[in-house]
Amino acid sequence: MSTALLAAQHPEALVVGIDQSASRLAKHQVLGHQNYLLLQAEAESFWRCLVEAEIPLAAHWVLYPNPWPKASQLRRRVHGHGAFPLLARLGGQLEMRSNWQVYAAEFAQAAELIGLSGTLDTFTPDPPQTLFERKYHERGQTLWRFQGSFSR
Ligand SMILES: C[S@@+](CC[C@H](N)C(=O)[O-])C[C@H]1O[C@@H](n2cnc3c(N)ncnc32)[C@H](O)[C@@H]1O
Repeated sequence: MSTALLAAQHPEALVVGIDQSASRLAKHQVLGHQNYLLLQAEAESFWRCLVEAEIPLAAHWVLYPNPWPKASQLRRRVHGHGAFPLLARLGGQLEMRSNWQVYAAEFAQAAELIGLSGTLDTFTPDPPQTLFERKYHERGQTLWRFQGSFSR
């Protein structure tokens, strides 16, 4: 959903939507835009491919990553993964959204460590950009958003 919406909002861009889950990707409803593609892939591996191919990003959205809430699962969170510093080599703007404040605050701290400065705030989606965002919003949950950019 977010991939197709971003493609419509940015007709000049090629938007690549990534999820490792085939069943998640199968929920995609085609909206008719041609400037996007969907990949079943592990995001961190894809970042490595982009770095090796020296392909920079204009913008990057990390939308509702799995929270992995147990302390023992820290390294499974996006910002706890060994590949997280690679994001700095891809450049551009980055936005991360989560319904968990702790996760968002951790992400913002980790982002600072790799040269990604930005702001963390709550927001009301209007309209929701992803299926999970819609679900969380309908349940009345507070949504968190980190928006930052790498200086080139
Ligand atoms: C909470 S869902 C959010 C799905 C969608 N982004 C949305 O907002 O509606 C988290 C998704 O992240 C995917 N995922 C988790 N770890 C991943 C990784 N390392 N690379 C790619 N996708 C991953 C899962 O398959 C799952 O579909």
